[in-house]
Amino acid sequence: MTSTPPQTPTPVLELSGIVKEYPGSPPLRILHGLDLTIEAGELLAVVGPSGSGKSTLLALLGSLDRPTSGRLRFEGRDVSNLSDAELAALRAHRIGFVFQQFFLLSGLTTVENVATGLLYSGAGLSERRARAAAALRSVGLGHRLDHHPDQLSGGEKQRVAIARALVGRPALLLADEPTGALDSVSGTAVVDLLRTLNADGTTVVVITHDRELAASFPRRIGIHDGRIDFDERAPQPTGAGL
Ligand SMILES: Nc1ncnc2c1ncn2[C@@H]1O[C@H](COP(=O)(O)OP(=O)(O)OP(=O)(O)O)[C@@H](O)[C@H]1O
Ligand SMILES: [Mg+2]
Repeated sequence: MTSTPPQTPTPVLELSGIVKEYPGSPPLRILHGLDLTIEAGELLAVVGPSGSGKSTLLALLGSLDRPTSGRLRFEGRDVSNLSDAELAALRAHRIGFVFQQFFLLSGLTTVENVATGLLYSGAGLSERRARAAAALRSVGLGHRLDHHPDQLSGGEKQRVAIARALVGRPALLLADEPTGALDSVSGTAVVDLLRTLNADGTTVVVITHDRELAASFPRRIGIHDGRIDFDERAPQPTGAGL
């Protein structure tokens, strides 16, 4: 029998020297050369003052936007040479997004909203609807399949948005203040859902202003003026490691 050395898993994201500027004279530099590695299976919070660059960073992590300079690898692949269509395909297949404002389509039912998350999957209509219904059941909304967004509470809308983000089984879920518009009970339900997804193997990155929530996560990254201010991990439980 041959023994193979243990493989180091490929990180989900590797950023090196990431700079983001918006055009202007002079250009407005928002991110100042970030280095960051996110491993598969992590659950991490991004915290920092308003205007520090958190949403800008999240857009880059999810390839919704391109850096001005620097290198970003997604699952080992340098994304800088990918075309817009290739980036769209990468997002559709590997990444889910959840935002503070739920961005549901008001003319569609919940099951139709969630099924939009599978438009680029190649699945047919009936399969898309069946998978959307299953995703809605998994977020506790199996009894609201035919409601329209304006017939749902805030917490329910956010759970629909999460169902839409997870229905394609993304490797990475990016959430920008997902509890920002919710009361504390609904917010807790949404956070519990994110934790469950993470426990099932999804890498989850959450921007939050909620200090208590951030403190409960295994890793916290602080952004200040477009730089990484701190990157801290929860202490290992006693007895673990050396
Ligand atoms: N399209 C744009 N053009 C020019 N400047 C922009 C653009 N988008 C964002 N900015 C600026 O970039 C900075 C960072 O914005 P960003 O949205 O990343 O902040 P944030 O940390 O998410 O803040 P908040 O906590 O308020 O959501 C801000 O000063 C903002 O004004
Ligand atoms: Mg923001």
